[in-house]
Amino acid sequence: MEIKKVGICGLGLMGSGIAELASKAGIDVVACEVNDKFLEKGMGRINKSLGRAVEKGKLDEAGKTAILGRINATTDYKALADCDLVIEAIIESFEEKKKLYQMLDGIVKKDAIFASNTSSLSITEMGATTERAEQFCGLHFFNPVPVMKLVEVVKTVATSDATFEAAKAFGEKVGKVVVSCNDTPGFVVNRLLVPYLLDAIRALESGVATKEDIDNGMKLGCGHPMGPLELTDFVGLDTTYFIAEILFAEFKQHHYAAPPLLKAMVMAGYLGRKSGRGFYDYRK
Ligand SMILES: NC(=O)c1ccc[n+]([C@@H]2O[C@H](COP(=O)([O-])OP(=O)(O)OC[C@H]3O[C@@H](n4cnc5c(N)ncnc54)[C@H](O)[C@@H]3O)[C@@H](O)[C@H]2O)c1
Repeated sequence: MEIKKVGICGLGLMGSGIAELASKAGIDVVACEVNDKFLEKGMGRINKSLGRAVEKGKLDEAGKTAILGRINATTDYKALADCDLVIEAIIESFEEKKKLYQMLDGIVKKDAIFASNTSSLSITEMGATTERAEQFCGLHFFNPVPVMKLVEVVKTVATSDATFEAAKAFGEKVGKVVVSCNDTPGFVVNRLLVPYLLDAIRALESGVATKEDIDNGMKLGCGHPMGPLELTDFVGLDTTYFIAEILFAEFKQHHYAAPPLLKAMVMAGYLGRKSGRGFYDYRK
């Protein structure tokens, strides 16, 4: 099935990026939010991102107007009825997602695909809450969506081949490189990345080196653009902690366990860049 019209639920950090990307690729978009305030905030984010592209000469004003014109921003979920694919990018709560999918099941046409952008919840479990588990998969984009080249397309035991192929084709159509994977916690990237970040925190915690030396070690010794502690600040210490807990609950292996220092910092509200303080101080 070719995806000609896509619905996006949740126009937050990720949803607004996905909506921008799909519209840029010439696909009609219906973007749904819980209220006008969040809808305006999400559209404001898209407007700003396109404005930056115009300033850099990557897009002209007519192109910007056309991209915005393809996005129908609404709080009325009925507008999703004739979408070929609906991507859910709402808050990371299984109960909230389940409620949304059950409502969407009654609204969106029966042959449409549902996909979740979740970073940590089970795609299989979410699919099982719908009447279309065969037409359910994961489409895991990376932040910032317009910049990061990757999308993980996630298959459950129930996902049909036709759904999986259509989701991969959608990922490619919006300009991403697709990595296919089976539904396991962390998929490919977080399964490998999160233990690395946790090990860097453990190294700091046990006095192996200073935060600057740990970060410089990985930047200059391994060619990483960011050191692990800088990267944890960027991702969010709370998000890293949350994903570590889910990985540990599944695999029960030490390298997935959150170090006490990470837990203490989260409890103290040191969440990284977004809160102004993490391993580094961003308040100035
Ligand atoms: N932030 C990241 O780096 C990142 C990366 C990959 C995946 N994800 C995943 O993407 C999803 C969204 O994350 P985010 O960072 O964009 O969150 P966010 O908090 O920025 O945005 C979530 C948005 O969903 C809206 N929302 C909540 N319930 C809704 C509903 N029933 N219908 C429509 N909209 C609703 C909220 O109003 C909010 O604007 C999560 O599942 C997260 O795990 C996040």
